[in-house]
Amino acid sequence: MQARAMRQTYNIHAYPTHLINSIELANGKRITIRPALPQDAPLEQQFFERLSHDSLKDRFNGCAPVAQYSKVDYVTRLGLVATVFEGDVEIVIAQASYRLIDEDTADFGLAVSEAWRRIGIGTRLVDTLAAAAKGAGARWLIAEALPGNIAMLALMLRCGFTVGEHPADRGLVQLQRRVVAPGVEGRVVHRSGEFLAALRAALPQCFEASDVKTGLRLAQASSGTAGPSGR
Ligand SMILES: CC(C)(COP(=O)(O)OP(=O)(O)OC[C@H]1O[C@@H](n2cnc3c(N)ncnc32)[C@H](O)[C@@H]1OP(=O)(O)O)[C@@H](O)C(=O)NCCC(=O)NCCS
Repeated sequence: MQARAMRQTYNIHAYPTHLINSIELANGKRITIRPALPQDAPLEQQFFERLSHDSLKDRFNGCAPVAQYSKVDYVTRLGLVATVFEGDVEIVIAQASYRLIDEDTADFGLAVSEAWRRIGIGTRLVDTLAAAAKGAGARWLIAEALPGNIAMLALMLRCGFTVGEHPADRGLVQLQRRVVAPGVEGRVVHRSGEFLAALRAALPQCFEASDVKTGLRLAQASSGTAGPSGR
């Protein structure tokens, strides 16, 4: 038993240093995006404790948070943190993770601290997750969201995802995209107000409670139509 536990210690893949990135945001502030280490668990925990109830609900689709953020092997499970330093103290301001649910598909989630939204962190996290998932051999990225989670739906459409009916839960929508993003010309709209108006006009059921009953069958013209196998 002890020998087996020791062998498992060596199952983790090398820390993917190529995913470490120092980024200057639109507001001029600099952040670091890096793969999470097992010892980041307390920092990630503090991040989730600082999120509002509504943000937590959106992040975990109404379910209780799953405290497995640091259980990573950098291939089948990867966590990312975006951090800043306050003095000598590193603070997590955003977190994202994926899990390979089969050899083709990485299922991901993310959250950005309320004070750091709308300056491109979510987009950078999706890009980094996609690069990592590609390296792990995945061909598809998928995520789930509550139908009323406008920010996530908007971010996903902006990043070239297709919004569709969830195969197992009519209270959720499923978002999917090939790991390699479609071309910029395939994206829906580029500015927030205009984008939101277009989204509301094009996808009114995204914004209504009745949507939970009817489900969504929305195919973004720009994204691939054939989904991952079994979906
Ligand atoms: C969804 C979320 C991750 C977006 O993060 P973010 O860092 O604010 O996203 P970005 O700054 O990269 O936004 C990129 C684009 O997405 C769209 N977008 C993002 N938030 C939006 C909002 N609230 N309303 C309308 N459009 C929005 C915009 O087009 C935006 O570009 P713009 O600001 O130039 O207009 C963030 O709102 C969040 O953490 N929500 C709570 C957790 C959650 O819902 N997770 C998803 C389920 S796992």
